[in-house]
Amino acid sequence: MKGMKNQSIYRIYMWEESLRAVGQEPAGISHDEYRSRQSRLFSQLRPSDLLIITAPHESIRSNDVHYPFRTSSDMLYLCGWEDPDAVFCASNDDGEWKTTLFVQPKDVLKEIWEGRRPGVEGAEANWPVDNAESHESLQDILSSMLVKSSRIFVKMGVDSDVDNLVESEMKSNSRERQKFGLGPISIVDPSMMINELRLRKSNAEIDLMRHSAKIAAQAHIQAMANTKPGVGEWQLEGIIEGLFKYCKTSGIAYPCIIGSGENATILHYTVNDDTCDDGEVILIDAGCEYKGYASDITRSWPVNGKFSDAQAEIYQIVLDAQIAAIDECRVGNSYDAPHKAARRVLAEGLINLGIIDQSLDVALSSDGDLNKWYMHNTGHWLGIDVHDVGIYRPDDEPRLFEEGMVITVEPGLYFGAWRPDVECPERYANIGIRIEDDVLVTKDGPDVLSGDCPKTIANIESIVGSA
Ligand code: GLY
Ligand code: MN
Ligand code: MN
Repeated sequence: MKGMKNQSIYRIYMWEESLRAVGQEPAGISHDEYRSRQSRLFSQLRPSDLLIITAPHESIRSNDVHYPFRTSSDMLYLCGWEDPDAVFCASNDDGEWKTTLFVQPKDVLKEIWEGRRPGVEGAEANWPVDNAESHESLQDILSSMLVKSSRIFVKMGVDSDVDNLVESEMKSNSRERQKFGLGPISIVDPSMMINELRLRKSNAEIDLMRHSAKIAAQAHIQAMANTKPGVGEWQLEGIIEGLFKYCKTSGIAYPCIIGSGENATILHYTVNDDTCDDGEVILIDAGCEYKGYASDITRSWPVNGKFSDAQAEIYQIVLDAQIAAIDECRVGNSYDAPHKAARRVLAEGLINLGIIDQSLDVALSSDGDLNKWYMHNTGHWLGIDVHDVGIYRPDDEPRLFEEGMVITVEPGLYFGAWRPDVECPERYANIGIRIEDDVLVTKDGPDVLSGDCPKTIANIESIVGSA
């Protein structure tokens, strides 16, 4: 099949240097690893349980055009199947867990229009499952699995076909249950169990995440190099998304945030239709998805290549805060230690500049003035989802960092002169700075996966406008 021919023999030289910096593609997730993920999940179930992993249906963009399909992250995590109309099930048969993947069957006409399908045989031969079935038999086969199980582990509200089947089996079996104690008695969301597994990354996952971050770093470098007064935010977006595709990712992990001037002070600005003007700062938050794994990098730089004094003052405070926060990403530290460290450095910096006229304790309090200029958290888990899964406060206690967890560290300061709710200091009007890296917690301390992306003032100034 075409998709099996992976090595390109052609080179387009425009981004050759970036490609070299990104380096060899990592191997990906082995079947053994998928099987071990499955086993770790099954070990938390009882033999009479049924596990069902669902994925959303394709959604229509307009008329005959669909949005690009992306399956559920749990489907990717447990078996790596990417196509639509799939359901992954596991049930216990005489003490052994057996997995079944329902997939789109072979269909020449559909394949002529939409692309080749592995079909049932291909799925069984080449994916980490025991058995594959046609999605057309879902109702019959899943119904017979449902009547034999007591607890059904399924996330409802994702696949309406599965929801309807589960609900109708629950209803139709209620009499059997009362008389004979047979059939499903409860529906349980398996997300919490899967999320705990996904929170700790394996070596193979870390390789993929490092690769994803290396590509995102190159995209930022190319955007910096191509920034000059007059460039369009959308043009930089084109470079970033182009480089993501050039490096063989599936594309963006989230819509690019490319804001110049006052747009840099809008946290999740994605319109990207303004021109970048002399004297402004531009903030770019962009990451890609490589073999299912996200990167998430933000950098901010002067459009004309030289930070003004005011811009440099704010930039250096954010950078100092980010470095202090990264240093807190250590085994045994609380997940919010980076946030606390970042807030402290930001508040001290703003007090020193006279922007905050409060004591440090007051500035940091829940209604202190730091909140005017820094209004978000300092990070989030990163993995298959950009805002990845994992409870931050299990049993209402802060999570402690463990080896293999990956978190973003992304403090910022935003002086929106357009905001009616605050009085923005004129010297800092419309300066928006965020610096975001992807940090792996290791036994030897924080490992910055996105470390290829420059962030000192001198390094940034040497790159901006150099293309
Ligand atoms: N890219 C969104 C975020 O940084 O959380
Ligand atoms: Mn982020
Ligand atoms: Mn981001």
